[in-house]
Amino acid sequence: MPSSNTFVGVVFGGASREHNVSIQSATTVIKALRNGDNANRFKIKPIYIDLDGRWWPEEIANQALKKGYALQEKELPTPLPPHGFNGLPNGTNKVEVWYPVLHGPNGEDGTIQGVFTLMRKPFVGSGVLASATGMDKLAMKAAFSAAGLPQVPYFPAEAKDLTREGDKEKLLKKLELNVGYPCFVKPANLGSSVGITKALNRKQLIEGLMEAAKLDRRIVIEKAVIARELECAVLGGSDSLKTSAVGEIRFDADWYDYETKYSQNSSQALIPAPLPAKVKDRVQQLTLQACEIITAKGLARVDFFYKEETDELWINEINTLPGFTSKSMYPMLWEAAGVTLEQLVATLVATATE
Ligand SMILES: Nc1ncnc2c1ncn2[C@@H]1O[C@H](COP(=O)(O)OP(=O)(O)O)[C@@H](O)[C@H]1O
Ligand SMILES: [Mg+2]
Repeated sequence: MPSSNTFVGVVFGGASREHNVSIQSATTVIKALRNGDNANRFKIKPIYIDLDGRWWPEEIANQALKKGYALQEKELPTPLPPHGFNGLPNGTNKVEVWYPVLHGPNGEDGTIQGVFTLMRKPFVGSGVLASATGMDKLAMKAAFSAAGLPQVPYFPAEAKDLTREGDKEKLLKKLELNVGYPCFVKPANLGSSVGITKALNRKQLIEGLMEAAKLDRRIVIEKAVIARELECAVLGGSDSLKTSAVGEIRFDADWYDYETKYSQNSSQALIPAPLPAKVKDRVQQLTLQACEIITAKGLARVDFFYKEETDELWINEINTLPGFTSKSMYPMLWEAAGVTLEQLVATLVATATE
């Protein structure tokens, strides 16, 4: 555990479609870092990254936290600094440990982890390699597949293959042969189900590909399975990762889309998931393997599909900065294991400085 009154810089917001979720996660994290015993352990510096990638100091960060969603340009002080990273806001040179609470591109993908690495400051969560590999669904699947982890059949596509008629026809044939219908079409580098569609036929496949191509050059198409959705969390340093219980998400929708994820009462978390002990063990073992393959540490949530009828288990994805709102699966899985939010964030800061 770092010395008392450790300066922790909590960075949130970000140039990502998951900006608003990040603000909610940061609200939970900051509250927990200031609660109970943590009040004497940590001094918190909230830092806000706006939708255009500009970094803002505590005052503005507090405004964003208070508002609960993205600050617009007209709410920011003028003249606006140039877009992107232009050095740290005033007053942040004291930060001893960085705590990124960012989801999606420009935060969960290794970019900010690279900045922290260059600064030579410890930070919460995975490093550059695990973050980048975990963010890009094609890189992630390639890594899992090389290690022999079970995954549903998938096929890669590139946005440029959709622009020329001949290439498009070839691609569609390949996808129909290798994946078939129904299938899911996903931009490789997003989260929160943004840009994902399900296709039952060629017309929907083309629509889905066009939709995904608007958001990413890299696209993944995968076979749709009818299965339960299980999630398992990890916590700890690279040599001491521990798994939580296995949780399950159930929802009133065909699949777990953005609306269902973030509207209240449309999904339900079961902790622990009602599963035979053998399946739970397999999930936990695959979770650790997945983390090891991409070198994830600190925190991560690994998601699975489980088909009860055939006892088939497939790994779906790893999230190296999972949602951290008070209703998110990651903190709930640890709460069920007796780890309070306060203990959880304190442990995460401790693993950063290991
Ligand atoms: N191959 C699949 N079969 C069945 N459902 C799927 C499949 N792929 C994705 N889904 C559904 O879409 C949701 C989001 O997909 P996911 O790959 O987890 O993207 P994200 O990174 O945006 O969470 C999943 O939770 C699941 O409900
Ligand atoms: Mg997911």
